[in-house]
Amino acid sequence: MNAATAVYSRITGTGGYLPQQCVTNAQLAQRVDTSDEWIVTRTGIRERHFAAAGELASDLALRASERALAAAGVSPAEIGLIVVATTTPDVVFPSTACILQRKLGAAGGAAYDIQAVCSGFVYALAQADLAVRAGHCRHALVVGAEVYSRVLDWNDRSTCVLFGDGAGAVVLSAADAPGVLSSHLHADGSHAGILGVPARIDQGRIEGSPFLTMDGNAVFRFAVRVLADVAHEALAANDLQPGDVDWLIPHQANIRIIEATAKKLGLPMARVVVTVDRHANTSAASIPLALDEAVRDGRIRSGQHVLLEGVGGGFTWGAVLLRWH
Ligand code: UT7
Repeated sequence: MNAATAVYSRITGTGGYLPQQCVTNAQLAQRVDTSDEWIVTRTGIRERHFAAAGELASDLALRASERALAAAGVSPAEIGLIVVATTTPDVVFPSTACILQRKLGAAGGAAYDIQAVCSGFVYALAQADLAVRAGHCRHALVVGAEVYSRVLDWNDRSTCVLFGDGAGAVVLSAADAPGVLSSHLHADGSHAGILGVPARIDQGRIEGSPFLTMDGNAVFRFAVRVLADVAHEALAANDLQPGDVDWLIPHQANIRIIEATAKKLGLPMARVVVTVDRHANTSAASIPLALDEAVRDGRIRSGQHVLLEGVGGGFTWGAVLLRWH
């Protein structure tokens, strides 16, 4: 808590990491009663990456973070805050953020996890923005890291084909111009039952299913509604119109959800960053992975408006509107 108060924050570096093992729909169909045609038609997913045995969320987070730090030209010692958004932490505690901090070889700054499922990265970025603007730190590392392969039920074809593993990271730094224009976070716990991993540890036993369960149709309807709503909310807060959005980076769950959201906003798909075909749904990692891809391939350019938005279990949803530097 020793940095001078900053007025704004901006992203100074991005990084992403996908585990080595890439599994196509055809390969998945060898162990699950499904087909490439069903998966592509219903979801747009063609392949996903799975972590190796023993490869944990913090390992994926480390690779993505190293790339984001290198892009920002910031050393781990300069990071005053690490926020990791994850639903699949290494252990119950300590936090994956603390484990990541140790793996980065840094110590002393604040570190904690955020649990907002697929909205986790948007939640984490919003919190880090507040910390930087309040002067708590000059540089924050914000990460989404997930190993959903660990919680998939291979006997439930309606869910196991949808998810993948990965991590994305950004360095958020103090700046004299925005950066982060605004953030908008929401939750409605009355929908907790439609998506979750309901297990808990009790007296050394796991009580309840340790696998992901989902009412896919209910999630689909909810997602399309709130993604459009929160996009309008973010734009209105900044006196902008949907046409002012240069890049929409929505949570990557299903191409049909993404297309329906873009349509509701009147945005052409040419202005939407899509990775769900190659990554599947990587939950909290999906938005920073997509952002990193679009930054590195030059699609996102200086002066452009980038709208990040997520929705996930809880239910949680939110948006962060950026002006790229
Ligand atoms: O981060 C948020 C996470 N979750 C999501 O984003 C999921 C949102 N929901 C969805 O993406 C869609 O609801 C699904 C992709 C999960 C399902 O698509 P749908 O078009 O709503 O299919 P459905 O659930 O209505 O199922 C249609 C049929 C069923 O067969 P019957 O009963 O019509 O004979 C299912 O048994 O498809 C069958 N089915 C499959 N068939 C082949 C379900 N999963 C599979 C599968 N392969 N993997």
